[in-house]
Amino acid sequence: MCGIVGYLGFRKAYPIVINGLQRLEYRGYDSAGVVLTNKKGMQLYKTKGKVAELKKLAENKDIDGNLALGHTRWATHGIPNNENSHPHVSSSGNLVIVHNGIIENYNTLKKELLTRGYTFKSETDTEVLINLIEEVKTTNNCKLGKAVQLALTNVVGAYAIAVFDVTKPDEIIVARLGSPIAIGIGENSQEFFVASDASPFIEYTKDAVYLDDEELAIIKLGRDIKIHKIQDDSEVEPTIQELKLNLEQIEKGGYNHFMLKEIYEQPNAIIDTYRGRLLANNGIIKMGSVDNNIAKFLNANKIIIVACGTSWHAGLVAEYLFEDLARIPVEVEYASEFRYRNPVINKGDVVIAISQSGETADTLAAIKLAKSKGAFVFGICNVVGSSIARETDTGAYTHAGPEIGVASTKAFTTQITVLTLMALKLGNLKGEISNSRFHAFLQEMTLIPSKIEETLKISSEIERIAAIYKDASNCLYLGRGYNFPVALEGALKLKEISYIHAEGYPAAEMKHGPIALIDESMPVVIIATNKGHYDKVVSNIQEIKSRNGKIIAVVTKGDTTVREIADHVIEIPETEEAFTPLLATIPLQLLSYYIAVMRGCDVDQPRNLAKSVTVE
Ligand code: F6R
Repeated sequence: MCGIVGYLGFRKAYPIVINGLQRLEYRGYDSAGVVLTNKKGMQLYKTKGKVAELKKLAENKDIDGNLALGHTRWATHGIPNNENSHPHVSSSGNLVIVHNGIIENYNTLKKELLTRGYTFKSETDTEVLINLIEEVKTTNNCKLGKAVQLALTNVVGAYAIAVFDVTKPDEIIVARLGSPIAIGIGENSQEFFVASDASPFIEYTKDAVYLDDEELAIIKLGRDIKIHKIQDDSEVEPTIQELKLNLEQIEKGGYNHFMLKEIYEQPNAIIDTYRGRLLANNGIIKMGSVDNNIAKFLNANKIIIVACGTSWHAGLVAEYLFEDLARIPVEVEYASEFRYRNPVINKGDVVIAISQSGETADTLAAIKLAKSKGAFVFGICNVVGSSIARETDTGAYTHAGPEIGVASTKAFTTQITVLTLMALKLGNLKGEISNSRFHAFLQEMTLIPSKIEETLKISSEIERIAAIYKDASNCLYLGRGYNFPVALEGALKLKEISYIHAEGYPAAEMKHGPIALIDESMPVVIIATNKGHYDKVVSNIQEIKSRNGKIIAVVTKGDTTVREIADHVIEIPETEEAFTPLLATIPLQLLSYYIAVMRGCDVDQPRNLAKSVTVE
């Protein structure tokens, strides 16, 4: 979390950094700040609140200069206030820093620095780090790059940092351990950009270097970037990647919110996910990273899926997919639990890590643990070149395009698409799915995008239901089988963007507790599509109705039984049972979206959340 942007070059730095911060606000928006240097010295503006507040603060002030660092914060150490906002300045006033991550041993370091006369204005770990760098620089009388490197060898924790010396405004030092950082390189090294992801600089350059963990880069105008390993100072040859991202992909394109745009992008996102992989007319699923490791998958004793949040819900759908279609046992683990629990991983187990951002700290740590125990780890990520994509043995990208709304939507359905393709392929190769059935599955998969389009067309009906329930204090989401994880995901969407308390449950589990909550003020969203355990779900609906609960049912087109009992029905097209999560999710996303908008919530940047959780 936290977004970092920096610029060093011939252009005015302030607008580049401010625009960049707005693009990175998905990473945190508790406070924002910018530091610039110009002929008059250092100009520092920082404030609690979003980048819009920072812009107001800097209005009519001195924002001149060709070197700047900016930061948008998701608070870890110290409450979100002006003092704790970044950038932070060293005691001498010469060194400035922006930081994403946590310095775990900051307290010990701070005590030492206090005894040496350093003073602190904030409660942050970051201010400790910049003073440590200053102490090392003074004591060793060395250059800034060396001082940063030496200081970081004393640090425990995670970081992406950018630092400069106000008295030498032609250089930025950047380093990373556990938090992402990209460097954009302008023509002939006449300008450089630094950012937590490449979106702040895509209109300026397509050449980028992504730092690896434990790397430090010295960026100096007119010179090639120099990269060193932090621990042993050895030099690393920079790998320049060509960015595929374009500006249109990260703009709202006429929608009121990124979340709505991303909900509507799902048909195309799914096509992008299966393009080149699903060859329905030839009856083939081609996935290089699976094909190249096919024996590992076919011989797997079990698959362990690690993920967090919405990606964990996609993992739960995959549990049904792999067990049902390929008869491979699956365990789905919260990465945060898995990493600390001494899990049993046997030879022959396959670990699948799922992450939209590819930066989630717990998922990354779970991968490292699994690899240390000899597991083969397959990653499913959306962000190309992300830490998880690089850390896993191999994997498959979802190709959903940038997801900017903090609440995950198209990442979820595209993750499920990848997992469905894998389960179908393995199921067919294992002889669990006959060729004719396999062909039918593939044909049906090609229809999913248009079936989602069809579901999106009933958005005004969903908006009408949202208006009825927008003031609810609680909401229950129920589903069975493949749709149980969809219920969990529906509840998560509602709570994170509308702040209504919501719980997802397997429908039958309701009797074991949650039923006590049901009365006339409790809306219950229940997925009651016509496959799987339809009759049993209908019985569950009856149980809710007889306790006066309000029922919003997601049903298959043409359903009459549930329509008679439920207060509202939302129809989705008929499909294979295994594919229903891809359709049933859509109305739940829209319902949460409309409720949140009607409640006046900040849909794209819900309070306390951040898109990329790079701290544990
Ligand atoms: C929910 C949401 C989060 C993420 C979770 C994992 O809408 O966005 O729950 O799913 O933080 O993030 P990734 O997938 O980037 O690892």
